[in-house]
Amino acid sequence: MKVICTEKSQILATSLAKALKTTVVDVKYSRFPDGEQYLITGELDDETIIVGSVVDNDSLVQLILLIDACDSSNNQLVLPYMGYARQDKRFRKGEPISARAVAHVLSRGVSEIITVNIHEKEVLNYFDVPAINISLAHDVGSFITTLNLSNPLILAPDDGALTFAEHVASAGGWDFDYLEKTRLSGVEVKMAPKQLCAEARSVVIVDDIISTGGTIATASSMLYQQGAKDVFAACVHGVLTGGAYIHLMAAGIRGVICTDTIERGCSVISAAASIAAALKRC
Ligand code: R5P
Repeated sequence: MKVICTEKSQILATSLAKALKTTVVDVKYSRFPDGEQYLITGELDDETIIVGSVVDNDSLVQLILLIDACDSSNNQLVLPYMGYARQDKRFRKGEPISARAVAHVLSRGVSEIITVNIHEKEVLNYFDVPAINISLAHDVGSFITTLNLSNPLILAPDDGALTFAEHVASAGGWDFDYLEKTRLSGVEVKMAPKQLCAEARSVVIVDDIISTGGTIATASSMLYQQGAKDVFAACVHGVLTGGAYIHLMAAGIRGVICTDTIERGCSVISAAASIAAALKRC
C-alpha cells in the first residue's frame, strides 16, 4: 500500500505516509501547450491511498486524472477538503447540486472515501461508494492547549457550529458557547456570546471553514468591545479567500490556526494522524 497525491496536498500526504509507515509515489505533473493538465505516476501497488483536497478547479481536474491513473479496484480516496460541498442543495430553481456532481465524479475508480469535517454530513450520501467523515475537533483542541491560555472561552460563530465548539472545548474541559447575532437596526448587528461573558477572557472562535474571514473579523471586533482580552481564530479548512488573513489581523485576531487539509502558512495542525487512524479502522 502506497500514498499518492495531487500537488496541493503533498505536505499532508507525506505526513500521512509517515504515519502509515509507507511511501509517497512520485508523480510528474505538467501541462500540454494548450493548458490541459497531464500527469504520470511512478510504480504503483495494487492498493493506493489517493490524497487530494479540492481547493480549486485545477486541483479537482488533477484529482480526477490521478484517480484514473491509479487503475485498480482497491483504491481509497482521502478528500481532506471538498470544495463545492457548500452548494449541497438546490437553493434556487436552475442551480446545480454541485456537491452531488463532484461526489459522483470522484467516486469513479475508488472503493471507499474519507472526508474531513465535511460541511454537511448529508453530502456523504452523494458518493456512489461508502464514505465516512472524520472530525479534527479534538486535534484543534489539543493544539489550543499548547497556547497555554488561561481559562479560554471557545466560541462557535453561530449555533450550527456549536457541536464543533463543544468537541474542541472538551480537549481542555473549557467553557464553550456560540455567538448570537441580534439586529439592532437596518444597518447595525450585534454579536455576543449567547450565555457567557467574554470580558477579560481569552476567546478562541472555532469553525469548520474560514473563507472570507468576514464572520470571525466582525465577531472579533465586537468581542474586544465587550472587553475580551485576546481573540484567536481556529478552523479545520483555511480557505482564506481574498484578503481573509489580512482582514482577520486588522480585526485584532492574535493568531489564525488552521489544519493542513488546505496547505497554508498557518497550517499548524496536521490531519495526518487522525486520517491514518481512520484508514486503519476501515
Ligand atoms: C458556513 O456555513 C461555514 O461553516 C463558515 O461559517 C463560513 O464558510 C465562514 O465564512 P466566512 O469566513 O466567509 O465568514
